Order: sequence, then C-alpha cells, then structure tokens
Amino acid sequence: MGMQKNLGLALRDARAHTDYLFGLVRPDSLYERPIPERHRIIFYAGHLEAFDWNLIGGYALGLPAFHASFDRLFSFGIDPPPGQLPADQASDWPSVAEVDRYGRRTRDEIDAAIEQVPERLLHVALEHRLMHAETFAYILHQLAHERKRDGAQPKACANGAQAKSPEYFVDVPAGETRLGLSGGDGFGWDNEFQTHQVHVPAFCIGRYKVTNGEYLDFVRQGANPPFFWVDRGGQWFYRGMFAEVPMPLDWPVYVTLAEAQAYARWRGMRLPTEPEFHRAAEMTEVSGNVDFRNWDPVPVTADERPGDAGPQQLVGNGWEWTSTVFAPFPGFEPFPFYSNYSAPFFDGAHYVLKGASQRTAACMLRPSFRNWFRPAYPYLYATFRLVQP
Ligand SMILES: [Fe+2]
Repeated sequence: MGMQKNLGLALRDARAHTDYLFGLVRPDSLYERPIPERHRIIFYAGHLEAFDWNLIGGYALGLPAFHASFDRLFSFGIDPPPGQLPADQASDWPSVAEVDRYGRRTRDEIDAAIEQVPERLLHVALEHRLMHAETFAYILHQLAHERKRDGAQPKACANGAQAKSPEYFVDVPAGETRLGLSGGDGFGWDNEFQTHQVHVPAFCIGRYKVTNGEYLDFVRQGANPPFFWVDRGGQWFYRGMFAEVPMPLDWPVYVTLAEAQAYARWRGMRLPTEPEFHRAAEMTEVSGNVDFRNWDPVPVTADERPGDAGPQQLVGNGWEWTSTVFAPFPGFEPFPFYSNYSAPFFDGAHYVLKGASQRTAACMLRPSFRNWFRPAYPYLYATFRLVQP
C-alpha cells in the first residue's frame, strides 16, 4: 500500500498549493466572480473539498455524510453556453468559516483512511485539484490587481526583445503517431483511453508559437485585440497576473480558437489537428515554463538550445489550440465514479488543446493528456502555431 502513502503526500502538497492560491485573494474579495461564466471564488474553495469528499469519503470509503447540503452545493462547476450567465448573489453562499470547517473535516476523515483508498481514485483527486489550481489561476488573473495580495512580484518583462520571424517552419515527415493510453500505461483520464495509432501525412509546422508581436500586425490590419491586451493612450500593454506590462512582443499571444483561426486564415495558413500536434510533439522536449514556475509567459525562444532545429515549446508556456473537435477515442468509457468528466463535453462545441501552460502541474505533462474549451472562451492561457496549408 506504499503508493497510497505517496499519493496521500502528493495530495497534501496539492492542498497546500491551492490553499496558497486562495490566500492570494484579499479576504474581502472571496465572493467576487472574476469570470462571468464561472462561479464565485468561494465556490472553488468548497468545491475542491466536496469533490474529494464525494469521491473518496462517500464513493470509495462509504463514510456517512456529515454535511450533505455542502456535498451537493459544491459538487459541480459550470460551463454555460454563450449568453446564459449565472445570476446568483454573493449572499446565496455560505460563510468562509463554514466552508473552512467543512474542508478541515473532509481532509481529516480522508487522511485517516488514506491507505484504504484505491490508487486510481487518489490520482483522480490529485489531478482534479491540480487542474483547478490552473483554472483558478485564470480566475485569479481576471480579479482586479488591487483585490489580490502582493504574494508575488510582477515579472520583469522581456519588452525590448524583437519577435522572432515567423517564416520558419519545420518539416514533419509522414508517419504513425500513437494517441491515448492503454491499461498498462499508468493513470490517465477517461478521455485518454483507448490507445490507437493514427497515420499523419507529412506537414510543415511553425517552429514557434505565434507571438504578440506577430499578432500585433493583424490588429493593425483591423483585427480585434486579444482579451489579455489593453490600450493605454495608444500603447499596448499585457494584463499580467499582478501588473500590466508594456506588450512583450516575443511572448506567445493568448487568444481564443476563433481568433487563432482568423489569424491563420489571414496568413494563408491553418491550425494543426490533434494527431499532427502529437506527431510534432514527439520531436520536442518540455518547456521550462510549466509546473507553476511563473505566473506569466516567457519568450517563445526561451527554451531554444544551440543546434536544436525542432519545434519549440509544444509542451509548456501556453496551451495550443488544435482544429480537432473534442470527441471520444474508440473504446471510450466514462469513469463510473466521475461520469461527467468528459462525456458532457462531446457536444461538438468544445475543441482540443494540447501541450501545457506555465500553470499546468508536472503530472499532467504526459503526451496523452487532453484539454478542451469552447472556441470563444478567452480566459485560459491558450495560444497556437501555424501549419502550412
Ligand atoms: Fe471540479
């Protein structure tokens, strides 16, 4: 049962991390809703504990509920279709003290029985929490700077550097790529199964993610500025986590899928498919800008080593949109204990993102991990690269 112990320790570390994130919100701002399509901040504090309680306390251990109304209230997040925003009031939610009490008891009960929890469920709890550590960073990003504690200094910004020329494509020869996981491959979410080979015809992919500097040309031609940009008296600034900085031209541009596709069309290019991304990512190493190391991006060339001719930063420094609609792999089966993790999103209205951002935990850097969002959702750390038509 040694693995349970290790996973239990990892879960404690993950709790410390999410506690730290909530601690960056000023206490008078815990009932804010920084992203209109998402719940108020207090929901997420309760949700991480309710999820663990429902999965481990209830499903795995069969413990009696000690706060059934919180188990339900905090059970699921939301992803409303465009135009259907939540309308609850701050006063509809319980107090911070009640939510804290609920969380402490949940943690105590789970920790006392951790050795009896099946390994797979501990992976689910751990990765669920760490995924929220990333999506909570998106929420925190949209909270007004003065509502955050200065828990981290703004990063020095690479403003002076010029954006690299985008006219640099890497040939990827035709070949097979393996998508997904098989039973012997270790933990993965339901949508990562089953493994299968896909033939990918030869294609040419951008060596770098598209930068703010490149996208600026598109904006100067009349495109709308990306969501993370702000115009201050005719100067473009990037809205960072803790401060606005003069536009870092060599950082990847954060855009929606719709914006990425519009830019690609403007350049006479297209976006990669999920199998093409897999194939190209086989040629690369993970970027240094992952696993919570930074709050904001680094230049698209930051990981480049002398003599390295492959595509850069396919994994890290910002998720990358693909043109692939999120759909099940052949043989997909939902987890019986978390049947709504993926299946509700196989609706044709969500697209696959691959890679990772600076706020993606190390355990989710495996090639089979799949992320998905709506094509007009602007809040995540998502960028793209071009493929020749
Ligand atoms: Fe969740």
